[in-house]
Amino acid sequence: MLPATKGIFDRLTRRGRLMTKRTCDRQGHVVRDGRFLFRTPTAWEYAAAVACGSDPAAQRWLGWQPGSIVDELSRADALRVVPGTGPDWASPDPQSVDLVMIDVEANRCVGLVSVHTGEDGGPETGGYLAPDYRGHGHGRALFAAGLVLAHDHLGLPRVRAGAEVGNVASARSLQAAGLARVAGPPTYRLPDGRVTEAWWFEHAAPRPVRCAGPQATWFPASLL
Ligand SMILES: CC(C)(COP(=O)(O)OP(=O)(O)OC[C@H]1O[C@@H](n2cnc3c(N)ncnc32)[C@H](O)[C@@H]1OP(=O)(O)O)[C@@H](O)C(=O)NCCC(=O)NCCS
Repeated sequence: MLPATKGIFDRLTRRGRLMTKRTCDRQGHVVRDGRFLFRTPTAWEYAAAVACGSDPAAQRWLGWQPGSIVDELSRADALRVVPGTGPDWASPDPQSVDLVMIDVEANRCVGLVSVHTGEDGGPETGGYLAPDYRGHGHGRALFAAGLVLAHDHLGLPRVRAGAEVGNVASARSLQAAGLARVAGPPTYRLPDGRVTEAWWFEHAAPRPVRCAGPQATWFPASLL
């Protein structure tokens, strides 16, 4: 086989493998919820996912550092990434397990959900949707996938989520996914340094399990 042809063949088979993979393995996690597939992103899928949260309306709540935000000119390109393409990728945050949200019917990357270390050192979930996927109730599926990742893949018996006071769409979506309001610190700090008032939510599972995917081994047992 000519090297150039082999490259195309490899990319096609790679895409097929990524899109048909149904179970977790050492390379990543897979969670399915109806038309949405959540899984460990490739580098290009991650770029698309970051673009989903880079618009000013999302940044109003997410508060990323400027260097993490995909600028307006690049956003449209990033959002056109075809799911299943791109090389393997490792999260820039070593204490975060990130899943890209893919709309299988539209064949698009439409958001990101993560389970990561919160300010108290315990597990937190959070995420965001692409602009045109907000306002349709898909936040429930997004955060429900975060719970499945935490409890049924990472073996975590409890996971928290914070929302800025006033982010009603986030609070309602977290509750629709099954999280309950709990007490917590009055504020939290966003990545850009802004300190915001916080609502806290929590979900517990009595019998969490670990899958064959990469594990969040950094959580201290005392906080689980
Ligand atoms: C937060 C987010 C995931 C929520 O998902 P969503 O699917 O867009 O949520 P919706 O807009 O459908 O709102 C969920 C519910 O809140 C209600 N709601 C939303 N904004 C509201 C408001 N200002 N006042 C009253 N109710 C409101 C909706 O009517 C809906 O009600 P329902 O459950 O009875 O149908 C999504 O909007 C998003 O990605 N936002 C940008 C980033 C972000 O804020 N991330 C979370 C950081 S903590």
